[in-house]
Amino acid sequence: MEVIATIRALDERLSEAGRVAFVPTMGNLHEGHLALVRLARAHGDTVVVSIFVNPLQFGPNEDYHKYPRTLAEDCAKLESVGCDVVFAPTVTEMYPTPQQTEILPPPVADELCGAFRPGHFRGVATVVAKLFNIVQPSVAVFGKKDYQQLFIVRSMVRELNFPIQILAGETVRADDGLALSSRNAYLSGAQRAEAPRLYRSLGAVAAAIAQGERDYPALEASARRELESHGWRVDYVSVRDAATLALPQGNPPQLVVLGAAWLGETRLIDNVEVTPS
Ligand code: PAJ
Repeated sequence: MEVIATIRALDERLSEAGRVAFVPTMGNLHEGHLALVRLARAHGDTVVVSIFVNPLQFGPNEDYHKYPRTLAEDCAKLESVGCDVVFAPTVTEMYPTPQQTEILPPPVADELCGAFRPGHFRGVATVVAKLFNIVQPSVAVFGKKDYQQLFIVRSMVRELNFPIQILAGETVRADDGLALSSRNAYLSGAQRAEAPRLYRSLGAVAAAIAQGERDYPALEASARRELESHGWRVDYVSVRDAATLALPQGNPPQLVVLGAAWLGETRLIDNVEVTPS
């Protein structure tokens, strides 16, 4: 496995790489990321993983500076799952001049997480577009854990004609249901014990929908109350059409219950897909 920091060296390494399967990450890797790398391994000749904490997608009061940076440990994990190339550029390698050209994602990027993190998905879409042009993969893998991000990346690839197949990896969870996330490391012991409630609350909404309940606002409000009564600060709980991420109109075949909420200083997100009965 090679660790490469510059675009020029990456170009040389990938000149005869065959089908490249690519997994973009911000590092501090856990089993969720590694599952995506295994999926990539099954779909390409050469697997490239990028590790880059992208300043463009963090708001001014967010955790860009404290985001965990663990390159040596990450590389050991990546080696063990058959990654071929780690691309770990510096901020100046990615942004040698101020990034004035940006990708404007679709309007749904201003809803859900985008309503609470203004500009976040513009920063995500812009760095993902740059990484796609740098790595030129045949296949790229994203996790369903970040459902709205996956949707926005798929939209961008389709609407801008990137010749890249997007694959989605299922959310990898701890035994108690908590979705693995680099931000879980911020939780205290007591918060970590409380954290699985987010998944349980979204799951309860999904279960009610699967059993025929159709009053989505009532279900959302009851999940919100449940979380708030256990000390969470809820950004949103929202039932959406899985195909469009719009509010459900009529009876869409597949829905997704998405949520974001804070435990102390830590913001957690999760989602559960559901087929209405
Ligand atoms: P990061 O949060 O490091 O996540 C990298 C990839 O891992 C994303 O596709 C994310 O959905 C996936 N992932 C995270 N936790 C997961 C879990 N528990 N199960 C399955 N997949 C999981 O998402 C980003 O980085 C950035 O926004 C990025 C796309 C790299 C652009 O900067």
